[in-house]
Amino acid sequence: MTKISPSILSADFAELISDINDVKNGGAEYLHIDVMDGNFVPNISIGIPVVESLRRATDMFLDVHLMIDRPHRYVKKFCKAGADLVTFHLEADQPQDIFEAIKAVRECGKKVGLSIKPRTPAETLIPYLPLIDLVLVMTVEPGFGGQSFMHDQIPKISAVREMIGKFNPSCELEVDGGVDPATAKLCKDAGADVLVAGSAVFKTKDRKAAIEAIRNA
Ligand code: DX5
Ligand code: ZN
Repeated sequence: MTKISPSILSADFAELISDINDVKNGGAEYLHIDVMDGNFVPNISIGIPVVESLRRATDMFLDVHLMIDRPHRYVKKFCKAGADLVTFHLEADQPQDIFEAIKAVRECGKKVGLSIKPRTPAETLIPYLPLIDLVLVMTVEPGFGGQSFMHDQIPKISAVREMIGKFNPSCELEVDGGVDPATAKLCKDAGADVLVAGSAVFKTKDRKAAIEAIRNA
């Protein structure tokens, strides 16, 4: 069954716990937390203290997506703050430090994911695939919620699915950006296991119905 990871970037931060309980009760498996530093992406969102507070407030699986430069500097802090999965970008560091960051998350006993932006080829993941729990394919340029799904990324999702089959079959494949019931179907057909959805979930009144529409697309 496809897992759904609602992105709190589109939630109402003044009503955060109520919004989170809505998606938990709506059956979402993961909770997607977008961390942005104003360098790797042209936007600033939330950081470590928010993850710490959310850890105390919910037992949901915290899927933390770091859109920050040189993530190896911070991954342990996010693990200690209570992330269950820490995903960072392949483009955000040199290979040696990406390997270091993967190792650091592992040492904390947490799951580790690697993400690629739309212009990064699938093949760049190959050296890391045996070491990670999840690949996150971006289907928008990272930085903002509410953007349109980039249909030209579908072949890349299929290519990553094939590579996962070859190098690490237990690795999950997550897709993030512009996911709604229509684009969810395309992602699932291309082999996605986990779908992130911000606006398509939080900008609707009936979050449970929105989650089910995406899951059953
Ligand atoms: C974008 C973030 C996404 C974003 C998705 O940089 O990584 O997680 O919140 O939002 P929607 O689903 O609205 O495209
Ligand atoms: Zn994200």
